[in-house]
Formats: sequence, structure tokens, C-alpha cells
Amino acid sequence: MVDKSSDKLAVEVEKVSFNYSKLKALDNLSLQMPRGISFGLLGPNGAGKTTLIRILVGLLLPKEGKIRLLGQSLSRQMAHLIGYMPQQHSLYNELSVAQNVDFFAKIYRLRNRSERAGRVEEVLRLVGLWGRRNDGIMKLSGGMKQRVSLACAIVHNPPILFLDEPTVGLDPELRANFWQYFAVLNSQGVTIIVSSHTMDDATHCDRLAFLRNGKVIAEGTPNQLRQAIGKTDATLEDAFLHFVRREEKNVA
Ligand SMILES: Nc1ncnc2c1ncn2[C@@H]1O[C@H](COP(=O)(O)OP(=O)(O)OP(=O)(O)O)[C@@H](O)[C@H]1O
Ligand SMILES: [Mg+2]
Repeated sequence: MVDKSSDKLAVEVEKVSFNYSKLKALDNLSLQMPRGISFGLLGPNGAGKTTLIRILVGLLLPKEGKIRLLGQSLSRQMAHLIGYMPQQHSLYNELSVAQNVDFFAKIYRLRNRSERAGRVEEVLRLVGLWGRRNDGIMKLSGGMKQRVSLACAIVHNPPILFLDEPTVGLDPELRANFWQYFAVLNSQGVTIIVSSHTMDDATHCDRLAFLRNGKVIAEGTPNQLRQAIGKTDATLEDAFLHFVRREEKNVA
């Protein structure tokens, strides 16, 4: 059973709605994400995953609803608590691998030069790119760029990490590596919120929310969601389709 008292929660989303002009991207959405786990946001294209993540990192302001991170209302002063890996990487092609990570470290106000250099080395070793530190970004494969992007997101040691489809385009070995990094971060107390389409990612998460049309249609551990449909051999994909059908019946 998840303890939902506020001091055990990393992220609280309360009745958040968000519109792009007339399009309702998030519809009265509420979620609670416990600390120190990997929490998956699963859903098809256009479900609202990126919109929700952009709200949670403070890039979009919802018209309605409340966000709390680590028990406090989201504010600009909380930037150091947040790591963010966007869906499309935002690396600088004119900088080397190490310079990119160092740039993000500076943005996050790691001012001490030697401390910063130590931290850049640490995160580049974690993602297996220390040997490529002097290469330009253009020389890297897509998967390597994603690893640099992850290094940039974690360089300031944030307690909460938002990763928007971090495993897209990764080969199976690299995807497994990413989940190993995430497990290391979780063991250090970091909460990871990760969006994905793939049920392979979903099985690695401690808890999941299934999103569709800007709403949460189901939430729980992978096992709870599988068991909810009453078949012993059900996959998470089966579970997702089950909740979609249930939602459609409710709307009809
Ligand atoms: N900048 C924007 N302007 C207008 N509409 C937008 C904008 N960004 C997203 N939308 C719309 O909001 C809805 C939710 O989009 P969002 O990007 O949050 O979905 P997503 O779950 O991240 O999808 P994907 O899996 O394709 O990344 C979609 O209907 C999309 O068309
Ligand atoms: Mg998206």
C-alpha cells in the first residue's frame, strides 16, 4: 500500500486542466507520485504526457489546478529540485559532450569550477560517455545524444527527474542500460517520472498512470493493473486496452 501522506510524495497534481486555445490537452487530471520510485506516464500520441511534464517542470502554467513538489507549491525557486530531459533533445551542436554537460551545470548554479568538473566526469561516466567527452555532438549517434541529454538532466543532482520519452530510438541493450541508471538513481532516493509508449518501459516502473485524452484512465503498480483485468496471463498492453474500452463505455 502506498503511503500518500504529503511528506512521502514527490509530486502531487490536483485537478489540473490545460488548454491550447480550444483544445483541451489535460482534463481535470489528478495524480500522486511517491518519492524514490520510477513513475511511468503511459499513453498514446496526444494523450497529454508532454503537456503534463512541461507543467510539472514549470514551463507551462495551468489555468486550473495545483502542483506540489516535495510538499511545496511549484515555484521558480524550485528549479534546482528538478531535472528535465525533453522529448526533443536540446543540446548545443557547437559544444563538445563535456561542454554541454558543463553548460547545464552552470545554468543550475554549480559555481565551483572543480566541483563542477568532478560532477561532469561523474555523470558522463554513469552514462558511459567519458571516453567521448571531447567529441562534438554532431559526431554522436542518436542513442549517444540521448545519453548526453540524460547526463545534462542529472548533473545538478536533482531529487526529482522528469524524462520525456527517454528510451525512444534506443536499442534494447541501451534501453536496459537506461533502466539500470534509473535504478541507481532511485536507490539514491531520486524520484523519476518517465513518459513512454512502450510496455517494455512500463514493466520497469514501480507505478504507472495510463493517460488518454488528457485524463488518467488507470493508475497503480504494473501488477495491480494487470490483475485488474482478471486474466492471469494479461500483459500491460492488454490492461491498457481494457481501461480504454472501459473509459469509452463510460463516455458513451
Ligand atoms: N504547442 C501546442 N499547440 C497546440 N496544441 C498542442 C501543442 N502541444 C501539444 N498540443 C496538443 O495537445 C495534446 C496533447 O499533446 P502532448 O504533446 O502533451 O501529447 P503526448 O502524450 O506527449 O504525445 P506524444 O506521445 O506524441 O509525445 C495533443 O492533442 C496535441 O496536438
Ligand atoms: Mg510527448
